[in-house]
Amino acid sequence: MITVGIETSCDETSIGIVENSRILVNLVASQEKIHAKFGGIVPELASRAHLEKIVPLFNEGLKRCKILPYQIDAFGVTNTPGLKGSLLVGNAFAHGLAYALSKPIYNINHLYAHIAACFIEKKISFPCLGLVISGGQPNVFLLKDYTKFVQLGKTRDDACGEAFDKVGRMLNLPFPGGIHVEKIALRGCEDKIKFPVSYVKNSLDFSFSGIKTAVYYYILKHGLKEAPNIAAAFQKAVVDSIILKIEDALKLYQVEHFLFGGGVIRNNYLRKKIEKKLKEKNVEPVMARPDLCMDNGAKVAILTQYLIREKDCPDPYEIVVIPTK
Ligand code: KG4
Repeated sequence: MITVGIETSCDETSIGIVENSRILVNLVASQEKIHAKFGGIVPELASRAHLEKIVPLFNEGLKRCKILPYQIDAFGVTNTPGLKGSLLVGNAFAHGLAYALSKPIYNINHLYAHIAACFIEKKISFPCLGLVISGGQPNVFLLKDYTKFVQLGKTRDDACGEAFDKVGRMLNLPFPGGIHVEKIALRGCEDKIKFPVSYVKNSLDFSFSGIKTAVYYYILKHGLKEAPNIAAAFQKAVVDSIILKIEDALKLYQVEHFLFGGGVIRNNYLRKKIEKKLKEKNVEPVMARPDLCMDNGAKVAILTQYLIREKDCPDPYEIVVIPTK
């Protein structure tokens, strides 16, 4: 069974082609260079770049895995959450193709797809917990099976990746800042400066706006002389607050597996801290591969495979939507 996943929710145009659980191609056209000079994503420029890239990327994908359009069994397209104009480009393209080829199309929640990137790592025991930490979201989920997601927690204000990117900007690092903050933190000492560790009580929600403000005022007072120490202390405070929520989730739900996806999960410091904490709790972490943590079509195509397995025979151009809780 061949599924094509189409992803245009933010600043990456991507086509992933998956046969059963094997990724045949996962092409990503990143817009990092376009947005870098603005220090953040400019939605209108993002939509225009998707429009330019999506058709050549799809054709290139078919060429690389030597398949013809009629051999595709179904399409999956990210349809929420994301930048509206960007989503519109991917959805118009995907729905047009599915209609023309008389193939079913699955409207895929971007956050569920981040978790689905873990499904190819190993056989998952359900129920399990899932945590997405990306540029736009932190979200805790309970998964009843591969396609049944219940949201348990979200951010009360800013996203975690956004905090990394804004702090990167305060430290004069290139956009997107996450990876650069991690790099300079390696040269710093995490205990020289103390930033507050945010913790939302009696809830699995997160909050990341306070830490941004704390870093801002620290830099205003002390300047950038100690940039590696600031990066290390910021990273520690953010990761400590994530670990506290993981512990809270594990107090509420007994699980064998805890799944992790989203761009910030590429951070090695975070990955190591998660692994250590889960080892203590006797829970196995299942983390998306670093190349599947960022926005990409393969994870959309993987989730589409699982949806099809649930429903034997979708009708031609049937639009299937997973209810969002
Ligand atoms: O998952 P993603 O591509 O976007 C959304 O779905 O929102 O994640 C992008 C985010 C950016 O904020 C980026 O700075 C962050 O992931 N990121 C990192 C690292 N690599 C990417 N944050 C911290 N450390 C990293 N190594």
